[in-house]
Amino acid sequence: MADTRFASSTREVPDSDSVPRHVAIIMDGNGRWARRRLLPRVAGHKRGVEAVRATIRRCIERGISYLTLFAFSSENWRRPEDEVSFLMQLFIRALEEEVAKLHENNIRFRVIGDLSRFDSRLVSLIDRAEKMTSSNDTLTLTIAANYGGRWDILQAVERMLADSPEKRQGFCEEDIARYLALDHAPEPDLFIRTGGEQRISNFLLWQLAYTELYFTDRLWPEFDAGALDEAIASYGRRERRFGRTSEQLASGGESDVATAR
Ligand code: IPE
Ligand code: IPE
Ligand code: MG
Repeated sequence: MADTRFASSTREVPDSDSVPRHVAIIMDGNGRWARRRLLPRVAGHKRGVEAVRATIRRCIERGISYLTLFAFSSENWRRPEDEVSFLMQLFIRALEEEVAKLHENNIRFRVIGDLSRFDSRLVSLIDRAEKMTSSNDTLTLTIAANYGGRWDILQAVERMLADSPEKRQGFCEEDIARYLALDHAPEPDLFIRTGGEQRISNFLLWQLAYTELYFTDRLWPEFDAGALDEAIASYGRRERRFGRTSEQLASGGESDVATAR
């Protein structure tokens, strides 16, 4: 069962700092990176794994506690079959080769998404990795695989009603929130999308309600520590008002803030 430690940005004003606690990234642009080099698209995916490593390292150095990466959307099954199967193989290989390193670095590993469409070998590798790293606490790394924001909301409502049929009579935001796939993390503070597109592509629809959005033209295989620092610096310059006025923020007091009803 989910814990309820994390504040809802629409129900109360969460604490925020100049460095985000949770960064969520749509890692886009692998195919274009490869095409520009006259390479097959899959070469870009392979190269993208290195950008993942660099990002994890930098998140730890910057004291970020949660990193959520969109690796495969529920709509990515629409891609050519050989690209989909390459991505699955890459995921399997990464799990086989990297999980021990994650564990050594005290990283907790989680996967969110509908795993029912994955082959059993992949599901058991995920399960093993999650169990092995479950008590690590330097960084929680969540991979969204066969994830869709709409799927997430629907599965949350379904599971909630299965557990508590009486909620058919009425339920609130918190009832749903505790069944969402990302229940183990606070709402993201900073969302990054590489590759130049400015859209959410069915990523964390519920959880991005008050997240700061950052878009960069840089393609994912070229996203490095410096690029993450730039995104964090941009975040540090934002004024997170959560519905309040700048004057209220300047006066610094929480006293005149009415809580959400
Ligand atoms: C993102 O890169 C990786 C996945 C969606 C798996 P793309 O493969 O979407 O790269 P572009 O957008 O075609 O360049
Ligand atoms: C979003 O990228 C999904 C991932 C990065 C895993 P896409 O490349 O699939 O998004 P669209 O199709 O351009 O919106
Ligand atoms: Mg893309």
